[in-house]
Amino acid sequence: MRDAQPESIYLKDYQAPHFVIEETHLRFDLFEDYAQVDSRLVMRRNREQHENVEAPLVLVGKQLELLAIAIDGVRLSDDEYLLEDELLTIHKVSDSFELEISNRIEPQNNTALEGLYKSGGMFCTQCEAEGFRRITYYLDRPDVMSIFTTEVIADKAKYPILLSNGNAIAQGDLENGRHSVSWHDPHRKPCYLFALVAGDLMVKEGSFMTMNGRKVELKIFVEPQNIDKTEYAMDALKRSMKWDEDKYGREYDLDIFMIVAVDDFNMGAMENKGLNIFNSSCVLANPQTATDASYLRIEAIVAHEYFHNWSGNRVTCRDWFQLSLKEGFTVYRDSQFTADMNSAAVKRIEDASIMRTVQFAEDAGPMAHPVQPDSFMEIANFYTVTIYEKGSEIVGMIHKLLGAKGFRKGSDLYFERHDGQAVTINEFVSAMEDANGTSLTQFKRWYKSAGTPVVNVESYYDSAAKTYTLTFNQSCDEPFLIPIELGLIGRNGQDINAELAAGLINKRDAYKKGIFQLTEKEQVLVFTDVKEEPVPSLLRDFSAPIKLNYDYSRDQLMFLMQHDSDGFNRWDAGQNLALDVIYEVMQQFSDGTQPKVDGRLITAYFSVLKRDDIDHAMLAKMLLLPSVSYIGETQDVIDILAINQARSYVQSVLAEALAEKLAELYKKLNVQQSYLPEPEQMAQRGLKNAALSYLLKTDHKKYCDLAVTQFENSDNMTDSMAALASMVNSGYKAQAESALESFYDKWQAEPLVVNQWLAVQAGSAEYGTIENINKLLEHEAFDIKNPNKVRSVIGAFAGQSLINFHALDGSGYQLLADKIILLNQLNPQIASRLVSPLSKWRRYVDSQAQQMKQQLQRIMAQNNLSKDVYEVVSKSLI
Ligand code: PHE
Ligand code: ZN
Repeated sequence: MRDAQPESIYLKDYQAPHFVIEETHLRFDLFEDYAQVDSRLVMRRNREQHENVEAPLVLVGKQLELLAIAIDGVRLSDDEYLLEDELLTIHKVSDSFELEISNRIEPQNNTALEGLYKSGGMFCTQCEAEGFRRITYYLDRPDVMSIFTTEVIADKAKYPILLSNGNAIAQGDLENGRHSVSWHDPHRKPCYLFALVAGDLMVKEGSFMTMNGRKVELKIFVEPQNIDKTEYAMDALKRSMKWDEDKYGREYDLDIFMIVAVDDFNMGAMENKGLNIFNSSCVLANPQTATDASYLRIEAIVAHEYFHNWSGNRVTCRDWFQLSLKEGFTVYRDSQFTADMNSAAVKRIEDASIMRTVQFAEDAGPMAHPVQPDSFMEIANFYTVTIYEKGSEIVGMIHKLLGAKGFRKGSDLYFERHDGQAVTINEFVSAMEDANGTSLTQFKRWYKSAGTPVVNVESYYDSAAKTYTLTFNQSCDEPFLIPIELGLIGRNGQDINAELAAGLINKRDAYKKGIFQLTEKEQVLVFTDVKEEPVPSLLRDFSAPIKLNYDYSRDQLMFLMQHDSDGFNRWDAGQNLALDVIYEVMQQFSDGTQPKVDGRLITAYFSVLKRDDIDHAMLAKMLLLPSVSYIGETQDVIDILAINQARSYVQSVLAEALAEKLAELYKKLNVQQSYLPEPEQMAQRGLKNAALSYLLKTDHKKYCDLAVTQFENSDNMTDSMAALASMVNSGYKAQAESALESFYDKWQAEPLVVNQWLAVQAGSAEYGTIENINKLLEHEAFDIKNPNKVRSVIGAFAGQSLINFHALDGSGYQLLADKIILLNQLNPQIASRLVSPLSKWRRYVDSQAQQMKQQLQRIMAQNNLSKDVYEVVSKSLI
């Protein structure tokens, strides 16, 4: 237990700040055993919002050693201020004044990776959400925006590169081999967007000409050994800058844009103004070291951080309850970008899959929260799939409701109205409403309530009257406005252009351009003049983050797989068909009868393979069975072992049945070409490697030989890794063993490659056993202080090696809890995120649920639980 229970903070308690910080002048003197921070803040009372209040000045600071405070040049005596816990209160201040503070910190001992810390040989910062208070005393809240000037001083030989936000304005050499560089950022910003970097770095340079003819210098800073891995991120950055101009009319606003790659980072990347800091795994790539999947992630994250310059930095959040204002919108923007650069249908499938496996699970667990939460203990726990991905889905629904033009009008108005401000989600929605002269009052419910709405749909065809009726029922008594994109497909496979019955037309414009706006608890659509009974295609494009139930027959699903004009629903029909068959096999196993896979599933996959009008990327998606986690998510009580048994069985039956076709496909796609990270090649490799992994699920050793050959001859990481993974995830032990060994020999000097090597083992059924996980944790390549390594081993184990994590003896849960307890002290944010698999214990079969719960109780009983871990564990046990 903790000494004191952390308190919750409530949105309803929000108050405007009592003070404004006009200017922030910082000076950092960096040494190996401490850093001195001197700040000079030009401040005034916030008379606009607190006219007659004489509140004291209360600053926050965490783990700081205070040296001195002065106001208007006069040093304060001890009785003029109070320093307690994390608050520094200065009793008396006038209406405007300059505050100077000196303090020291120890970046070299900062393992939480928040504030100023060391990663390898460099200094770097991470301030979102509340990390700035670990640097100096400040009003660490996003609605306090200031003009920053920063001087960085350090040893010149060790740290030749000194960076901060904005433009470099001065530099010079000092005594003792030290040097200084000063930076000035002309844009007001909250302190969470502050950044500083000092290191021995090399730079990749580029430039971009903006739509108004301004030249922007682009710089990517990396450690010298990584300079050959910067080209792709540079290209992705230029594409992002152009896209944001074309699609949103947003131009970059400084003369320089910098990215820095660091190895130790809690998240993917951070959008600090003009100085983005990236987890090296989300920026560095070359064909030899990075897979296609990494390239795609890099493109998306570079874009995401760049897009934040407008959606997040120019217009920022009033308070952290509005986090989705910037994150939901920016994720939506980056998903549009990815859809434009690659296959839009495949991007939609991937986003929907994340929603349905991860976000729906969060919504059904103890940490469920609305996209705009109303309370939290530790904000770091709210960087979630709900805030990010569900937030993006909500913005996407607004796009669907307003249309592309209306949406653009709304975003233009939002940026114009709120440029330079810190605002709320409500203000975003108001801009969308005002620009379109429409009301989204009912729609806003999406932001305020947790949980996943369920919509049940029934159909009735009246062959005499030639009417087709769809009845929609939504689960929630206070109904949501749900945009449901739909179509009716006739026997010839074409969409029917059906008209609504007269009485329904114009009813709140309920059905327009294929989108039905469900607004009531129960609603009926009647289509007239329907000549034959159609097959309904519902929730096309995953038009809302809901669970939609309709009782399709297997034949109807096969029909949709063949004919639906909507790519997402074509894929989804295949998933539903496979799900249905897997459930049946699960039942057969549990009844003790001989399992039998419905031949229609095999027929359906055959016809998918035969089609040449589906692009490779889509085909690769259609070949994959629903994941174990997704299947689990569709069950009331989750039995991972039973799901895995049934799914594996279906997979091996499919593999045997399709083997010849898949081998042909593999051969056709396995062409010699020089590697390019572009969509067509990626799709081709993706499909080829999907075929390969199926082939290794058969008993024919000749297919394993294909993998061995590919592994030995490939000149790119995508094909090497895919071949390695296919061996690791199948029964070919000897081949897998020797491949793993030679892989490590070859790549041990490349940490990002070694991380993939760790993850492919830790996440597999064969190698992710407790015994092997313990070996990996002891391996020279592992480091508990590096979040990427933790994710590669512990994260992959608990998230992917599901049959081992859920081993019946509870050893998987125990291992995870041990690591959470260890990390609780070192890095609370990472520790807290690892709790997630245990936190959902109530969903599992009883024997497992009880063992998971016991581990949570064991964590709860620890001394010195961080706020982060305490919040998640205590909420899980309520
Ligand atoms: N704001 C970052 C992003 O989404 C994520 C982040 C949050 C990074 C907190 C670090 C700390 O782009
Ligand atoms: Zn973001």
